[in-house]
Amino acid sequence: MAVGIFDSGLGGLTVLDAVARRLPDIPFVYLGDNAHAPYGVRDPDDVYDLTCAATQTLFDNDCDLVILACNTASAAALRRMQEGWLPEGKRVLGVFVPLIEALTERRWGDNSPPREVAVKNVALFATPATVRSRAFQRELAFRAIGVDVEAQACGGLVDAIEDGDMILAEALVQSHVEALKRKMPFPEAAILGCTHYPLMADAFARALGPDVQVYSQADLVAESLADYLTRHPGRIGAGRAPAFLTTGDPVRVSARATQFLRRSVTFRPA
Ligand code: DGL
Repeated sequence: MAVGIFDSGLGGLTVLDAVARRLPDIPFVYLGDNAHAPYGVRDPDDVYDLTCAATQTLFDNDCDLVILACNTASAAALRRMQEGWLPEGKRVLGVFVPLIEALTERRWGDNSPPREVAVKNVALFATPATVRSRAFQRELAFRAIGVDVEAQACGGLVDAIEDGDMILAEALVQSHVEALKRKMPFPEAAILGCTHYPLMADAFARALGPDVQVYSQADLVAESLADYLTRHPGRIGAGRAPAFLTTGDPVRVSARATQFLRRSVTFRPA
């Protein structure tokens, strides 16, 4: 009964941590495509090919359902995978929709027409590829009207986090928030639209100030996955053993993951 969790690297661990806390009886198989991170500077075809390959690895590890715990993959590849690639009996879910449902005060899976919502000015922090895709704005337009979204592509931030260079990461957060505020001085809400960014949540909160509500995905994805599995209990695959897989160097990736999760994590080759 395993569920797969995929990210280009370590960011998806923020989602894994929340879903494992919410659903302690389900074994999760995590796959980080660290050999090819970051995805945020790649073109959509490249992200699509890498995401399909990684998802197939998780299917081969007895997962029937895979969560793309990566906004870049969710933005560039998810719809295309669902429309033309997905093998019979397998499912892939992204991380955008639960976030947007929370922002627009909807119940999970509420597909009623778009309506006015309380929040009017939203800052989106994401990778260059996610910002370029405009997938967030597209999904938001299905659910809400009159919301102004200002997007900031946070170049360099994923690299700094993957390298464990938290001083550089903090400086980059500060400068990306300043750049955003030059375009939108008073956002009411900020979306951390990359699963790596919750690892810098304190730095974002400090730079944004106390009046901005910061939304990050991990707990929202965990809640919506719990709801999905209640409605589709058959979607849990045959696998029984939790595992951490990487396409990168398992020793290096295990050390970083242990630092981020503050517990011992051992990756093995995918
Ligand atoms: N953590 C990923 C995301 O949510 C990908 C970051 C990257 O590889 O650039 O977008």
